[in-house]
Amino acid sequence: MTHVVITGASRGVGRALADLYRARGARVTGTSRRGSPEGVLPGSPAQDGPAQDGPAQDGPAQDGPAQDGPAQDGTAQDASPEPVAPVLLPLDLTDPAAPAALAERLGADPIDLLVCNAGMFADRHDTVAGGYPAPLWAEEFQVNVTGAFLTVQALLPQLRAGKGRIALISSQMASDAAPGGNALIYRATKAALLNLGRNLAVALEGDGIAVGIYHPGWVRTDMGGAGAAISASESAEGLAARFDALSPETSGAFLTWDGRPHAH
Ligand SMILES: NC(=O)c1ccc[n+]([C@@H]2O[C@H](COP(=O)([O-])OP(=O)(O)OC[C@H]3O[C@@H](n4cnc5c(N)ncnc54)[C@H](OP(=O)(O)O)[C@@H]3O)[C@@H](O)[C@H]2O)c1
Repeated sequence: MTHVVITGASRGVGRALADLYRARGARVTGTSRRGSPEGVLPGSPAQDGPAQDGPAQDGPAQDGPAQDGPAQDGTAQDASPEPVAPVLLPLDLTDPAAPAALAERLGADPIDLLVCNAGMFADRHDTVAGGYPAPLWAEEFQVNVTGAFLTVQALLPQLRAGKGRIALISSQMASDAAPGGNALIYRATKAALLNLGRNLAVALEGDGIAVGIYHPGWVRTDMGGAGAAISASESAEGLAARFDALSPETSGAFLTWDGRPHAH
């Protein structure tokens, strides 16, 4: 049975991907910061507690200042409750030791697909004049970039064993082609993740491990906000089709959820 590991599977895009792969019959190992030791995937945002990043929204790349509004998780209306929930293991990417602990819990279990989806966006209200404090740069890079790398590194034995593929969820805000002048930390982390993915594609070529980098769309999640363009399940459907097409021949590509090559 196909084994899919998805970081940040408690809500949003990651949760929708977990639901999709379970519906396909795959075995899904999801993660969230605190995990669910009983192996029950939380069924609603209310069970998750407040969103870490508040109403932060990853919207169109040319968005102006952030729009305020209540955080909403689009998956609440997209995801049907499942009778059998996947295991949700703890993985807090602010802790550099967490990916190795995850790898230890998985043991020698081969991985067919690793989706590095977990991410944070905490600087959407910051201004150049007085915002973007150093600790925020450190935390956001730790979660969005270093955390993704350490997860790939820690799970490399299982990926090699499964001849697995790696999907990194970046953003259109990674692109230099459409600078928005806002969300400077988030944009820098997603650009770094894109760069990381393209280099990992080369570094892991000899292992036969393909690496894709994706913009999931502007998605109605805690991060994307209620006014975003697509639902989490639409994003997941599109992304899964892209992951299906990920191969050594397409490794290193930066694609949108609906299959268009994205400008770097
Ligand atoms: N929504 C959009 O419009 C949009 C657009 C472009 C790119 N993206 C990217 O798509 C990915 C998913 O976004 P989303 O909208 O689904 O976000 P979301 O609804 O805010 O969910 C974020 C997920 O990441 C996990 N996470 C947050 N901080 C973490 C940490 N320190 N360590 C480990 N896991 C952590 C969360 O787990 P907890 O439940 O434990 O907090 C949750 O599962 C992100 O990488 C985001 O940057 C989103």
